[in-house]
Formats: sequence, C-alpha cells, structure tokens
Amino acid sequence: MGKMEERVMVALDFPNITEASRCIEMLSGTGVYVKIGMQLYYAAGPDYVRHVKEQGYPVFLDLKVHDIPNTALGAMQSLAGLEVDMVNVHVAGGRKMMEAAREGLEKGTPSGSKRPLLIGVTQLTSTTQQMLNEELQIQGTVEETVARYARLARDSGLDGVVASPLEVPLIKEACGPHFLTVTPGIRPVGADAGDQHRITTPEQAFRLGADYIVIGRAITKADNPAQALHHIIQTLRGCEQ
Ligand code: C5P
Repeated sequence: MGKMEERVMVALDFPNITEASRCIEMLSGTGVYVKIGMQLYYAAGPDYVRHVKEQGYPVFLDLKVHDIPNTALGAMQSLAGLEVDMVNVHVAGGRKMMEAAREGLEKGTPSGSKRPLLIGVTQLTSTTQQMLNEELQIQGTVEETVARYARLARDSGLDGVVASPLEVPLIKEACGPHFLTVTPGIRPVGADAGDQHRITTPEQAFRLGADYIVIGRAITKADNPAQALHHIIQTLRGCEQ
C-alpha cells in the first residue's frame, strides 16, 4: 500500500460541476483519491469523469451497479472505457451478475490499460441490525452478513468490498489479507454522524486494517474543507510512525 493520503478517498458528493470543481481545486497536490458517486455522475456525466482523470486524480466511480447480468456486463464495459481506477456493484446482485460485471470490465478496458478494480458493496454503512432483520428479512448479524457477502464477492472474481471499518477484521479473516476493503462511515472525532450508523474515526479504520477510507461530508461540509483534510492527513501520518 502507498502513502496514507493515497488511501484517502474524498467523496465529491456535489450537485454540479461548479461545486465539484471548487473542491477538486482544493485537493490539488494532496495526493488523495477522488470518489465520484451517483449525485455528481448523474448531473455531470462521463465527460466530467474524464476531466478529473486528466487532472491526474485516481478515481473511484461509485455507481453501485445492481441489475441483471447482461445489463451489468454492458454497464461495466462502458465504464471501463472511462479508464477509471475503481468501480463497484452490489453483491446482492448475486454471483452471475458479479462474474458478468468482471467480464464487462475486461472487455471494455482498452488494450494496454489497466482494468479498473472491481469492488462489491456488502451492506450499506447506513444499514442497522434492525433494518437488516426486520425490513430486509436477512437473518443473522450485520457482521455475519457482511462476511458472507465478502466471501461471495471474492468467489465471484471481485477485488474487494465496501464495508464499515468495523467489519474489516472479519472480512480479512474470511477472504485473506489481499482482498481489498474500502470503508465509508468515517467520522473524525466530533463530526456529525448524519445518516451513517457503523462508523469509526480515520485512525481507527486504518488500525482495523482498511485499505482505503472514504470521507465525504466531514471534509466537504466542514467550515474550512482544506484545513479539515490537512488535519486528517496529518493525524494519519502520525499513526504511521
Ligand atoms: O459524507 P460521508 O462521509 O458519509 O460519505 C460517504 C460516501 O460513501 C458517500 O458518497 C456514500 O455514497 C458512500 N458509501 C457509503 N456506504 C457504502 C458505500 C458507499 O456511505 N456502503
């Protein structure tokens, strides 16, 4: 794994290019990864993703594909053409869908380029035990479900999963140390949890073994986003030594 800042993904959850670009400018020279999710992608489209890539940022395109295998394959083939670094699907789409997604990525990756990493969403970090059991009728604990989904993702050819940092030790135990973990639900001490439930601080997430952490509002909605990011990176560098 590279430097700490290369393992920090800043979620560009903005409604338009103007606001996203202001944040991108602030990130210049920091060495962080950029995460583009549904809000910005649906508003700004593939051209903006290309634009961010041209500025040299590694990009995680977080579109959480979940559809029939044939459609997932096509979606991934299109996304691979953008030459982003990481994309994802919902593990709940099942093995055939995940295998098709990987096939689509391989087909769509231009020759000579690197295939984007394919990551599976296990259970959203906003999901609670009660929601899982009562609303979704999935039995067992969140941790058991996440570990089961992670194993299924690995067996279906995925490179890693998205989960809460709290579940990383279980995932590494189930799938091995090289199976990647990308963890949202990050809140520095004192930050508002918002809709997230299974949360930790940035330092705790890395201590638990996370490969990448995703941070959105704790940076983008801070009074001084640049300072908030700088502070997080400094704290993480402190943990490295
Ligand atoms: O603002 P906050 O730090 O909560 O943002 C977390 C980001 O990670 C959001 O862009 C959200 O869509 C994404 N995400 C998540 N939980 C998942 C997968 C992605 O919160 N399981």
